[in-house]
This record gives sequence, structure tokens and C-alpha cells, in this order.
Amino acid sequence: MKKITLSVIKADVGSIGGHTKPSEKMLAIVRERVKDAVSRQLLFDGYVSHTGDDIALTMTHGRGNDAPEIHQFAWETFLLATKEAQKSGMYGAGQDLLVDAPAGNIRGAGPAVAEITFTRDPQSKDRPAEAFLVFFADKCGPGAYNYPLYSVFCDPMHDGGLLLNAKMRKGFTLTIIDMDSKDNDRIISLDVPERIWDAAVLLQNPDRFAIEAVHSRFASHEQIASVSATRLHNIAGKYTGKDDPVAILRTQGMFPAPEEIVEPFMLGHFVTGDARGSHVMPIMPVAINTAVAGPYCLPLVSALGFSMDANGIFSTEYVDFFGNVAWDATRLKIQQKAEEWRKQGFIGPTMASHAELSYTGIVDALAELEKEFVTRGGKMSTAYPSPSVA
Ligand code: 13P
Ligand code: MG
Ligand code: MG
Repeated sequence: MKKITLSVIKADVGSIGGHTKPSEKMLAIVRERVKDAVSRQLLFDGYVSHTGDDIALTMTHGRGNDAPEIHQFAWETFLLATKEAQKSGMYGAGQDLLVDAPAGNIRGAGPAVAEITFTRDPQSKDRPAEAFLVFFADKCGPGAYNYPLYSVFCDPMHDGGLLLNAKMRKGFTLTIIDMDSKDNDRIISLDVPERIWDAAVLLQNPDRFAIEAVHSRFASHEQIASVSATRLHNIAGKYTGKDDPVAILRTQGMFPAPEEIVEPFMLGHFVTGDARGSHVMPIMPVAINTAVAGPYCLPLVSALGFSMDANGIFSTEYVDFFGNVAWDATRLKIQQKAEEWRKQGFIGPTMASHAELSYTGIVDALAELEKEFVTRGGKMSTAYPSPSVA
């Protein structure tokens, strides 16, 4: 029996020719650091990937959630990659490292963090094997997982396992975070299926509310899901790049199966993000280590499936779910959906909501225009002020 923490920490610290992908040199530095951390037993295991311009560390260790040594290791690793990015003239070097030197835990300092701690027990009656999925998204906010997670944990139309598995039929507790709360975390716990409509009322607004965690209501109330749900604009006070969230989902047995969890991604649901983080576009499932090169930065998501031995070793092999041919038709459909949608340009819902845009330069443009507004005498009048003659 062993306590294992799964930590996924991701940051954008620079990329080639725009917000596309980190350089091979940056990735090599990060891989070397992870290898070294495994050999000096800071980590049980670690795997390095990128999705678009974000570098992700997927790690196992025995130090629990929010462990300062692990968070500092990730921070220092991103700093080294930043140095390389600066040296080679990469775009946006150090973009997501928003504070000077975070003490301990780096949650709220810029990088996306998702973590779950559990007991790995090959003799366990309920969970003799540990399988899990990690999602890595680029060019979108943390609410991007609202639609798929609601579908998986609340809707048997998407997840037949809710009807077929007696342990899943006990339901789940969703922890939803109010991402507008800047100083303290505001969270609400809702038991589903009893409160799916209450959950829906909140999740309708993915710019403000996101599912942060899901726990089973069967037996030991194990944590199934963790999502990095922090907003960079709350930390920086302005738009500095999109949040680009990661998510961990433990799968199989008493939890949803990977094939149920990836099903909602066939839709290409609309998310806030893409170009300048200021538009609405469908999210496309792609292979791991894909660069962003589409028009308006079509938001991307990758999904890796892992198994873990009794010592937390997982990285020797994995399954790249969205890299499979089964997703080719979905990708084409989503590309076409995006093209249709983009024809509307900036008018209304194709651009992000005004709450989101309030961290961008449009605020200054609106303030300038504000000065030119005049109040017309009568409400019903159609008289226009005569143009001033020089
Ligand atoms: P990232 O958040 O992935 O850096 O993208 C920012 C952006 O503005 C793309 O247009
Ligand atoms: Mg970037
Ligand atoms: Mg990014």
C-alpha cells in the first residue's frame, strides 16, 4: 500500500514564431530535469509533453498535494526553460510565470496545477489497478471542461456507465469554483444526480464557474477528477495569455471508463479562448505534442491514458487517445464548424463576453468613444446633431 500524488503542472514559458509550440531545446532541458528528479527520488516518475505552446509535467511522488518541494521543482524547471527561451529569442519567454518567486505552493502564481492523492493498493477490492487520463488544453479557459465533465458525471445520454455500474449509480460530488473571486477561493459542493440542475445553472457560465474536483459517493469517497481552475487575468490584472487548463481523471472500475470520458469531445464544444484569448471557438481534440497553427488559434485538447504500477511508475508507455484515427472525422467536422463560425467576425457571440474582454485593450477604446457620446433631448426624437463646420 502506498500513498501516491499525481501532479500535473503546466506553463507557457515561450514558443516559436508566435503562440505555437516550445522549442526542442526547451523541452530537452525540462526532460533532463525530470529525469534527474526521478533519479534523486524527488519523483517516483515523470513525463514531459507539450500541447500548443504549453509545457506540461505529469508527475507522481509521495509528498501530497501542494507539496512545496514539488511545486518549487516545477517552478525552477520552468525558469530554466524560460532562460533558454530568452536566449533563443522565443516569443513570450516566461509568459505564465506571473510572480517573482512564489514561496512554496505555486497555485495562483501562473502555472496550471491539477493534483490528486490516493492510496495505491494492488490488493484493494475496489481499485486493484490504477488507470487515469490526463487532459491538456491550449488556448482556452478552465471552463472548457464544464461541458465534457457535466456530460460524463450527470448525463446518461453521454455516459451509459451511470446506468450500468452500481458503484457509479451512487453518484458524485462536484466541487465548483467561482473563478471571479480573487482573494479567496469560493467553492460550492453539489451532489449529483440530485442537484444536476443546480450544477447546470452554474456551469452555464464557463468564464466564471468551473468544475474543480469530482469525488465518488461510493464507499471511500475517492477523488476522481481534478481540474486546474485559476484565471491568469485575476493574477496579472490584465490579459497575459489564456489559462490553458489541465485535468486529471481516474478511470475504470468504479469510475467512468476512458471511452465514456472522451465521448463529449466529439462535439467540438465552443470555448472562450483562441486568438488573443478573446474569441469563442470550438475545441479540437489533437495528438499530444501538437503545435498550434490553425486560423484564430483553434483551441486544442490532448488526452493521454496511463496505467500505474504499485510504486507509481507510469511513464514507460501511454495511449494517445486523440492521436488515434477514430478522431480524424471529428477534427474535420470541427475545422468546418470553426470556419463557418468565424465568418461572423467580431459581432456578438463570436467574440468573448464583455466580462472577459474587460482585461483587454477594448476597454481603452470604449473609454475614448465614451467621451463622444451625447445625450439627445427627447427620447422619441430622430433629430441628429448638425455636424460642426470648421
Ligand atoms: P496562450 O495563452 O496559449 O499563450 O495564447 C495566447 C494568445 O493570445 C494567442 O493568440
Ligand atoms: Mg503563449
Ligand atoms: Mg498556451
